[in-house]
Amino acid sequence: MGADLFAHKAAGYEQEKRRTDVVTSIAEAILESVPLNQNMHLMDFGSGTGLLLERVATKVGKITAVDISPAMNARLEEKKPALPCELELMPVDLAEVIPQARFDGVISSMTLHHVENLPVVLSRLYTVIADKGFLALADLELEDGSFHDEADGVFHKGFDCRKIMKLVSVAGFKDVELKRIHSIPKNGKDYPVFLLTARK
Ligand SMILES: C[S@@+](CC[C@H](N)C(=O)[O-])C[C@H]1O[C@@H](n2cnc3c(N)ncnc32)[C@H](O)[C@@H]1O
Repeated sequence: MGADLFAHKAAGYEQEKRRTDVVTSIAEAILESVPLNQNMHLMDFGSGTGLLLERVATKVGKITAVDISPAMNARLEEKKPALPCELELMPVDLAEVIPQARFDGVISSMTLHHVENLPVVLSRLYTVIADKGFLALADLELEDGSFHDEADGVFHKGFDCRKIMKLVSVAGFKDVELKRIHSIPKNGKDYPVFLLTARK
């Protein structure tokens, strides 16, 4: 494994209000778009400190948190005892490892732009989602590269909405839909965020 790109960010990660605000909007949009129930086992891909999964945890039975950053995983581990659903941490790079479990759905917030080879990861997600399971991915729309203060580990300046929908279709998913759900204010600019949903 390479360097932990989030090592210096993990401690203060949740202190930025615009960061918690976007994840709150993403969670609300997921809850509106996808029916969840207590029998479900979800994966949160790129779970970080758990901002997204803790906002849906009352609605499902189990969440597997997949994240490559030991520092972010350590923050999430601290939250485990208080979470209202079962939580399993899976500290792996999804570009390298295919989990054995099959999930009723995969949720993800602000992670795709950190994934170099998106077609490989989308095809992994297709493999690990059970038949008729769902995908709910949120990230930045195309931006000019000014969103991140550090470029390390940022492989995409957001996404062209039509192109990301196409990539998800090519990975095998159907009923691919995308909507703008939030805008992040930063340095006098607004950075729109989409939620893409699809079915296996
Ligand atoms: C910007 S953070 C978002 C964290 C959280 N989802 C949120 O919205 O607060 C992106 C996270 O994705 C993780 N990540 C990026 N690429 C990954 C990969 N290939 N496999 C697993 N985790 C990955 C990073 O370690 C990081 O914790």
